[in-house]
Amino acid sequence: MYFPSRIFIDGGDPAETKEADTILKKGGYHGLDGQTTNPTLIAKRAPSGVKALDFYKDTVREMSKIIPNGTISIQVIGDPSTLTSEEMVSQARDRITWIPNGIIKLPCTQKGLDAAEIFCKEGPINITLNFSQEQAAAVYVATLRLAPLAQGKRNEVYISPFVGRLDDKGEKGMDVVANILEMYRAFGDSHVKVLTASVRNVPHILYALWLKSDIITIPFKVFKEWADGGFLQPPKDYLYDTPGLTEIPYREINLDQDWKSYDLHHDLTDVGIQRFWDDWNAIVK
Ligand code: G3P
Repeated sequence: MYFPSRIFIDGGDPAETKEADTILKKGGYHGLDGQTTNPTLIAKRAPSGVKALDFYKDTVREMSKIIPNGTISIQVIGDPSTLTSEEMVSQARDRITWIPNGIIKLPCTQKGLDAAEIFCKEGPINITLNFSQEQAAAVYVATLRLAPLAQGKRNEVYISPFVGRLDDKGEKGMDVVANILEMYRAFGDSHVKVLTASVRNVPHILYALWLKSDIITIPFKVFKEWADGGFLQPPKDYLYDTPGLTEIPYREINLDQDWKSYDLHHDLTDVGIQRFWDDWNAIVK
């Protein structure tokens, strides 16, 4: 079995990681390519009274044992009104030691990219809560100067457009994936991998495969539906039809500006950071 995208599971439960890996292997694929987590997904499973950070660490350690060759995204967390880029770098440096195959999730904000610009020279990163092509332009430039090749390998950089949350607002979230891929491909440097996230249904998977999104992260429930349907793949003339959703047009954006000059603001990024913090706090207390 072959997919043009790496297949990740989006969740907080190692049992799902294991099951998805087994299903993929039974289907003739080499297994799950990676796992994304976030504070909400971890909070959902945390027993009351548990030390939240220890629980997060234990969870990703279990996941890491199941898919030692995949990457596992671990997020930085903090009060959005006070979290500094220095604190994010410090959290990143700590979290990257949790497992050998971790990758650090930083938010798609000015402070998040300040931290990314520093930390991408030290370890792999996944820029999360992305909702616009312009934000993706900033991510591209901020991470352009990666550390020199080490043993033939560079630290990976992912960007995670959250398609489902744009759909929820009546916008065609998958357009952001299509637009970013087009922009990055036009520029010719593939140092940022596009990870389609906030996937809600099988058509999201099919269109992401059709677009050759570098990675797709899929909640277990949707993954199961796709697997039960025989891991359907899109035909060459696949049409992603989403009546009722407003298209997000492609914009000509040059990738040669200072990254701070791009408009990084998106309401859904701010809402998302706050929601992650609130969900995390529910277990910290
Ligand atoms: O990968 C991102 C994902 O966890 C967010 O998904 O469904 O909360 O928008 P959702």
